[in-house]
Amino acid sequence: MSAALEVSPPLLAKLTALSGDLSATHDLDLLLNRILSEARELASAEAGSIFLLQEGRLRFCYVQNDLLYPGSAPARQYVGEEMAVDQSSLAGFAAATGETLVIDDVYLLGPERPYVFNRSFDEASGYRTRSMLVAPLTTSQGRNVGVLQIINAKNAQGEVVPFGEREKLWVKFYAHHAAMAVERAQLTRELILRMISIAELRDPQETGAHVNRVGGYAAEIFEAWATARGAGAEEIKKRKDLIRVAAMLHDVGKVAVSDNILKKPGRLDAAEFQAMQYHTVAGARLFKETGSELDSVARDIALNHHERWDGKGYPGRLPGLEATWRGPATGKKGEESPPEARITALADVYDALTEARSYKEAWPESRVLDLINQERGAQFDPEVVDAFFAVYDLIQLVRGRFHY
Ligand code: C2E
Ligand code: SIN
Ligand code: SIN
Ligand code: FE
Ligand code: FE
Repeated sequence: MSAALEVSPPLLAKLTALSGDLSATHDLDLLLNRILSEARELASAEAGSIFLLQEGRLRFCYVQNDLLYPGSAPARQYVGEEMAVDQSSLAGFAAATGETLVIDDVYLLGPERPYVFNRSFDEASGYRTRSMLVAPLTTSQGRNVGVLQIINAKNAQGEVVPFGEREKLWVKFYAHHAAMAVERAQLTRELILRMISIAELRDPQETGAHVNRVGGYAAEIFEAWATARGAGAEEIKKRKDLIRVAAMLHDVGKVAVSDNILKKPGRLDAAEFQAMQYHTVAGARLFKETGSELDSVARDIALNHHERWDGKGYPGRLPGLEATWRGPATGKKGEESPPEARITALADVYDALTEARSYKEAWPESRVLDLINQERGAQFDPEVVDAFFAVYDLIQLVRGRFHY
């Protein structure tokens, strides 16, 4: 390594902090957005995209472009395009060979190169891609999970310039850590989808749409709640990701409830409802006590999402999770139930009331909002209700996104 390429200690610290932080992110969408932002920042680049390897092909999964889509909102245009893992494209070449490419101008690639630049994105958007850094996302075990493309380096004057050797080194290092984080997030997501599909097999109401909505609602309510409490942006980002995933698992304990109760078309009688209440305890038992942070939040939510602020919920203060279930005990009151569970409680009820169930019709929106207001300080934590109304427009966006 020449003197000019030596990595300075502050930069190394920054790289290490960035990549260490990545491993705490469980939600794949959030992770990809973050990887792109950080890699672009490292290389002062205007745009970038990520391809993930799916069923043997590279799929265009995420794109950021400061010029075309300014602001922090992830742009989803063009997402879904695919290419083969071979030398015919830039991303395919990087994935197939494991090499990082540095190209000064993609429109001036010599005919000796095996790959060609695909101009369809530029042609459709009017953007002009010039310099490019294409790094494979390869794990320590040498498994390729995708490709990171960083586009149009900018100098201090804001002019588009070629990427240097220095940026290549940084991005290569960063891409390696990003690959491990992606692999981990994919494994987590697969496991969760498997758990959910088992629950779905048992309970026709426990659909992917319901689960995604409750996760999305809980995440947005959490952000508003934590912001109102003065939490820091980094902490919020991390917890928001955890609560989204953990809230999706709030009802996995329903796998332990018998079919005749779970699938009953009418109202439940008292004995049946008590059997149903067991889903909170059963769910909590699925998550290891000394497991990951995700285990711990998922456990809190599964156990406590039917507790109430006024202490009239269930399952209540139990002697221990492993003891035989004998029905609900004295309810947990107020902040005895963890915040993630108090938030998911509202998200779950909002979804239960706004959607039809096998045992009841959907309620009109105004009636649902009336109930939430009425139950402020009774069924629901008042701060959580305030947070819900503060992000009510985002809640509607989530609802629209997961209506299928
Ligand atoms: P779910 O249908 O997702 O409802 C979640 C929670 O939303 C309920 O928790 C309750 O707090 C609220 N909720 C749902 N429908 C209504 C309603 O019509 N009015 C009001 N005020 N709140 C409502 P809960 O009661 O602990 O029930 C937990 C789960 O037990 C329900 O999840 C559902 O799967 C099942 N369940 C409850 N009651 C019945 C029933 O009468 N028949 C059947 N088949 N299942 C029921
Ligand atoms: C549900 O809310 O449980 C299912 C309804 C839907 O998928 O929209
Ligand atoms: C459902 O799965 O749709 C109802 C279960 C719940 O949210 O308690
Ligand atoms: Fe539940
Ligand atoms: Fe639910």
